[in-house]
Amino acid sequence: MRVKKYAESATVGQLLAEGGETKQPTNKPAVVRFANVGKWYYDSRKKEKIDVLIDFNFEIEADDAGQFVVLLGPSGCGKSTILALISGLISPDEGEVLLNGNPINGPADDSATVPQAYTCFPWLTVLKNVEFGLALQGINKRERNEIAMEYLAKVGLADRFDSYPKQLSGGMQQRVAIARTLATKPAIVLMDEPFGALDAQTRSEMQQMLIELWEEEKNTIIFVTHDITEAVLLGDRVVVFPSRPIRDHQVHERRDLDEVLGHARPPEVARKHEFTELAEEFRLKLREAFPASYR
Ligand SMILES: Nc1ncnc2c1ncn2[C@@H]1O[C@H](COP(=O)(O)OP(=O)(O)OP(=O)(O)O)[C@@H](O)[C@H]1O
Ligand SMILES: [Mg+2]
Repeated sequence: MRVKKYAESATVGQLLAEGGETKQPTNKPAVVRFANVGKWYYDSRKKEKIDVLIDFNFEIEADDAGQFVVLLGPSGCGKSTILALISGLISPDEGEVLLNGNPINGPADDSATVPQAYTCFPWLTVLKNVEFGLALQGINKRERNEIAMEYLAKVGLADRFDSYPKQLSGGMQQRVAIARTLATKPAIVLMDEPFGALDAQTRSEMQQMLIELWEEEKNTIIFVTHDITEAVLLGDRVVVFPSRPIRDHQVHERRDLDEVLGHARPPEVARKHEFTELAEEFRLKLREAFPASYR
């Protein structure tokens, strides 16, 4: 279930008057916190520094664990960099990135990534691909076989367990990647444009499958896309990065999509006028910086 959220300014009295579930603020550390993060690369060809994040602050509060958070922005704005910082693949040049209050020192079990391109191991069967992460966690053979089959069933591929990736369509391969990631039960799932290479119909099927899986698994999802419609369809919270470098005051976000659109997000939700309005709001923000990409 999508977690019902209210604007931070609402008082407890207002919430009770609305008949909503009230949530007491917790003192637990944020699920993810970027504290004054600076990140840059060096382009050795052009001999120049490329700033990606400048004094960037961002938080997914403990109360928001289990939310579907979408990072929306054009190509090159720094979305994958943010995911790489959370997954511990790279480190900030300034400031800190914390998971559950702890600074990240290299890849941790708390998060797992579904990457931009298909990354099944071609020499392993579908089943062995899904078992791979479980083997790294030290789970015994019988148990990992059971868990892998359970997750293959969840993504609708139980009957293809002994196929090799090259025998599967692109959409099916991406289902394997999702099964492999979710099977290890990470608290945070990082998804980097996982459906970017798929045709529109397959993409829509995959979006619906992901919504169902997430409602069962209850992981916190941080989902990167440059597609406005995908962002509005999937997100509880959408964070818009209009340009690079990313600085706080240029970031635009909405945290109330489940209130505006409702919890259920079948494909038809895209026909609601609230959906169109949100999409337009994000498109205008993005167009300010990238007129050609978001007409
Ligand atoms: N290792 C690197 N060395 C130099 N520059 C890099 C490196 N990695 C990323 N960059 C640059 O940093 C910027 C942000 O890259 P990033 O991959 O985070 O963007 P993105 O938003 O994920 O883009 P896309 O949507 O195309 O995947 C880009 O300009 C990119 O060229
Ligand atoms: Mg990227």
